[in-house]
Amino acid sequence: MKIKILIGISLFIFFAFVVTVVGSGLVIKSLHQNQTPSINNGSTNTNGSKNSNQASKITLQEVAKHNTSSDCWMIISNGVYSLSSYLSAHPGGASTIISYCGQDGTIAFDSKGNSGHSSFAHSLLAQYFVGQIGQFITTQQINQTTQKIQQQVPVNNQWQEDD
Ligand code: HEM
Repeated sequence: MKIKILIGISLFIFFAFVVTVVGSGLVIKSLHQNQTPSINNGSTNTNGSKNSNQASKITLQEVAKHNTSSDCWMIISNGVYSLSSYLSAHPGGASTIISYCGQDGTIAFDSKGNSGHSSFAHSLLAQYFVGQIGQFITTQQINQTTQKIQQQVPVNNQWQEDD
């Protein structure tokens, strides 16, 4: 009889132990998943600095921060372009672009005088592309893109007509 009681107690302790271990594992796993989302709002790490692997949304507010000739982002048709390195090469002069740094230049770009820019001008945009408004992009990607763009020399600085 005593042996049966002992076996019963042992089994109970064993199952209690298994349930505790498995339960703790599941809790730890779910906590870990909550703390490491694949996309977040570019929050800061424990050092207070921005974690370069965490994605941030390209917002109007973010674009507005890049509003100088040495750091010039412009929105054209919901695409965001980093244009600092192109300013001095622009046939219409740097000043026409600088006033739109940090802003949406779609209407100005599309209307350029009466006629709008040539297809050549449109094709130039690709090399200055940062991302789409609303797109998630990591700080690391932004830095890499900006560095790459700064190293670029305009492909062709000559006036080209559409026809
Ligand atoms: C708000 C933005 C912009 C404004 C207001 C603007 C304005 C102008 C103006 C007034 C001209 C005519 C220059 C002349 O007749 O002497 C021009 C020409 C030109 N612009 Fe812009 N521009 C803008 C952005 C850009 C961008 C982002 C690019 C390319 C990345 C670009 C590429 C060109 C090119 C290639 C020409 C020569 C004509 C053509 O091919 O259409 N522009 N621009």
